[in-house]
Amino acid sequence: NSILVLNGPNLSRLGKREPEIYGHQTLDDINRGVAESFPDIRFVFFQSEEEGQLLEKLFECEDRGGFIGVILNAGAYTHYSIALRDAISAVGLPVVEVHLSNIFAREEFRRSSVISEVCMGVISGFGANSYHLGVRSLLGIAPRKKR
Ligand code: DQA
Repeated sequence: NSILVLNGPNLSRLGKREPEIYGHQTLDDINRGVAESFPDIRFVFFQSEEEGQLLEKLFECEDRGGFIGVILNAGAYTHYSIALRDAISAVGLPVVEVHLSNIFAREEFRRSSVISEVCMGVISGFGANSYHLGVRSLLGIAPRKKR
């Protein structure tokens, strides 16, 4: 019963990256907070700057089995990676798309996501809390998607 928390490019820089938009917590802070909030869940945390590594982690978790689903902040890949979208479609795991910022209240190019359509849902704009809400949603929907 594991959940993969998958973060894409530039999210390794949280804490010092545009804190007025993304907050002051580092990715480690956020991950620790999530793990502490859900002590009964086993989390796998993974971040990469590279698209292919994100895809491979998804495949690896599907193959390994035992995953309830995935919390995914794909960073900028959200807006243009058809490869990521196809990978989400390819795996049988429910994926919740999360964003720290409200992507609908920012630049025009951030308002569209190419992955939303193949995700269970989108949580955007609640800072670190987006991840917590993501886990809650996954726990709520997981029984229906169990395979
Ligand atoms: C982000 C929003 C994206 O538009 C941006 O490219 C990111 C972070 C967010 O969490 O708000 O890297 O996904």
